[in-house]
Amino acid sequence: MTTIMVNRNEATPISPELWGVFFEDINHAADGGLYAELVQNRSFAYSEADSPGWHALTAWRTEGDVRRCSDEPLSPNAPVFLRMGEHGVAARACNEGFDGIVVRRGQTYRCSMFVRAEGSTRVDVVLAAGGVAVSAVIPVTGSRTWARVEAVLQATVDAADGTLTVATDGDSLVDIDLVSLFPEHVFAGDDNGLRQDLAQAVAALRPRFMRFPGGCVAHGLGLDNMYRWPETVGPVQDRRHDANLWGYHQSRGLGYYEMFRFCAQIGASPLPVVAAGVCCQNTIGGPVPLPDTEMDAYIQEVLDLVEFANSTTDTRWGAVRASLGHPAPFGLRFLGVGNEDQIDEVFRDRFARLLRALRERHPEIQVVGTAGPAPHGPDFEAGWALARELEVPVVDEHSYKSPRWFFQNVHRYDDYDRTGPRVYLGEYGSWGNTMLNALSEAAYMTGLERNGDVVALASYAPLLAKVDHTQWVPDLIYFDGERVYETLNYHVQGMFSRTAGDRALHLEIADAPSWFRAAGGATRFAVSAKGFEVRCSDITVQDRPLPDVTLGSDSGRFDLTTDLGSLDVELALTLHVEAGDAERGSFAVHVGDLDGGEHWEWNFGTWLNRTMTLHTTTDGFRDEASPGVPFRLEVGREYRLRLGVGGDGRVFSVFVDGVLLHRHVDEDAPEHRFVASCVTDSRTGRTALRIVNATDEETPVELVDAEGRPLVVLAAETLACAPADGVPFASAPTRPTGLCVQGGVRVPPWSLTVLQLA
Ligand code: AHR
Repeated sequence: MTTIMVNRNEATPISPELWGVFFEDINHAADGGLYAELVQNRSFAYSEADSPGWHALTAWRTEGDVRRCSDEPLSPNAPVFLRMGEHGVAARACNEGFDGIVVRRGQTYRCSMFVRAEGSTRVDVVLAAGGVAVSAVIPVTGSRTWARVEAVLQATVDAADGTLTVATDGDSLVDIDLVSLFPEHVFAGDDNGLRQDLAQAVAALRPRFMRFPGGCVAHGLGLDNMYRWPETVGPVQDRRHDANLWGYHQSRGLGYYEMFRFCAQIGASPLPVVAAGVCCQNTIGGPVPLPDTEMDAYIQEVLDLVEFANSTTDTRWGAVRASLGHPAPFGLRFLGVGNEDQIDEVFRDRFARLLRALRERHPEIQVVGTAGPAPHGPDFEAGWALARELEVPVVDEHSYKSPRWFFQNVHRYDDYDRTGPRVYLGEYGSWGNTMLNALSEAAYMTGLERNGDVVALASYAPLLAKVDHTQWVPDLIYFDGERVYETLNYHVQGMFSRTAGDRALHLEIADAPSWFRAAGGATRFAVSAKGFEVRCSDITVQDRPLPDVTLGSDSGRFDLTTDLGSLDVELALTLHVEAGDAERGSFAVHVGDLDGGEHWEWNFGTWLNRTMTLHTTTDGFRDEASPGVPFRLEVGREYRLRLGVGGDGRVFSVFVDGVLLHRHVDEDAPEHRFVASCVTDSRTGRTALRIVNATDEETPVELVDAEGRPLVVLAAETLACAPADGVPFASAPTRPTGLCVQGGVRVPPWSLTVLQLA
């Protein structure tokens, strides 16, 4: 029988902020998502820069006398507005919302807009949904200046196909801009507020901190796209719109003030991330720094952010905060500087200057440094080295990895240096929403909790995703206009966070169920190309010649062999890169069980054709097996490639033109599939034991203390289902009966169980 011994006499302190969330405007998380605005493109500010084919009238249909204008606009930051009835003819502009405006019977909706009219007239607003229209008349006084007008509409049906129409009868010219429709029922009843159900789903996680606004969004693709916080506070009409690097538009209606306010409402410590004065390393052509001449002003802008968040209302930015409705400080204690940046000389310089200024002026702020996009590799090493050198208090690590990696790395932080910077695991997720994914994250979280002294903060990423509008899958919470869908990963987060503690009790597990990975299946070779047209010639497999192969751009995988019957194999070929996109093209050689078993890919030209990366797919989840090495494919060149698997299928090597480019040894480290952590909260006196069972064995577990006395279970919550369940969406955890048996529990297969102990 398995035994878990919990030692109440030995404990490790846990950071009070350990479990948090990370909000980024990815997957349409802000406009059309958490931000409750129902009108899409309300300021006529969409453009081709957001997405191909988008323009000022995207999401609008117009009829009659309507023209786009930009003379004396409401705001230079969104200069286009609509001029209606210029020629004395009736006009209509109809907005389709974000995939339709969702209305609920009996609820009221506040419709507002800015208007400017030549003579006194009226504007009709019509909310049509579910075949029923409700309308209001807004009187407009003739004036040369813009004025805000509004009307309240009450829906009489439940429907998701709503539209909002603004109509004029042509008796006067009317300019309209910032046409808005908000439900009255928003989170905390705020002005310019958040969608109730989504905000509530985030709040239900009881996050102790919230990171925002990114991610890549924080530093942007190019300097113009860098997220500058002062542009996102104050009247919404004056905020600077921008393209979103995830392929759409940011109105910034949900800006820094709204995020700080949300944090305050749900008791989460705000953790804004500002660019380190350098844009995203995925910018075509590489990261660009702010010119040296602009750095002092930028540093001041970052210092101003601290003043905005924390200072008294008699300071410049404290007064701004108060004028927006929040005289009380927001209690900023953490500030991220940089995100996944390339740690080069320019970055070091910009980061060090920001750090120095923050230290001098705001020693109370803990700066969070950055350590690249992966939990290993050159930026990871360099980011950590820089953080140690500059004594940065916290470092942001990112781990998007396979379930296998998470199970293998449950003990990753056990040996971390306790004297250097602490860890913020700012982004992590296991490439899926199945139970296997959720359990691999749960297993890893037991490791974070056991090491809650060195892991200061952790947040799954991304947080939100609009169904059918994703750029990144998996995500924690999905939604459409009507509903919120919680994933199994979400339930795992909640089960840890709602029972968080401030001390991790030491425990030991004896006789845990064993788990072995079945040996791999067939071994085959294949090739594929993306963005390049290539030809492969002089191909040999195990010295056996094969015919030439020509691949069109994005041609899919071409199988070179059938099962080779061996795990130790070699392929040689001459690659001719004949045409294609030198910034995005790539070529791959695949080897292993290509029919769904474990297999590997050497990818030449990953990360904007800057690296060669070895990927592996295990349990159906693809992952980088080792950090990429610098490599670029040139159009018009040929390369002699020799790729081999040796060491009984565990050593992967690739030679280019006779020179070893990369060698990887797969350690096949053990996967920790049955793990536990136990936390106690000195404030409430509650003790919670989490048990992760990612095996197919129902496991009776005896629970004892250090003296061998049985532990008493007061309550239990279990999330249990088949490993492949969870996609698309899953059911919530249950409070099972029959789980507790004499002296212990019967832990279901494929489950996370949280026990409240006496
Ligand atoms: O979470 C999605 C993206 O992943 C973030 O924007 C970025 O930091 C990371 O690469």
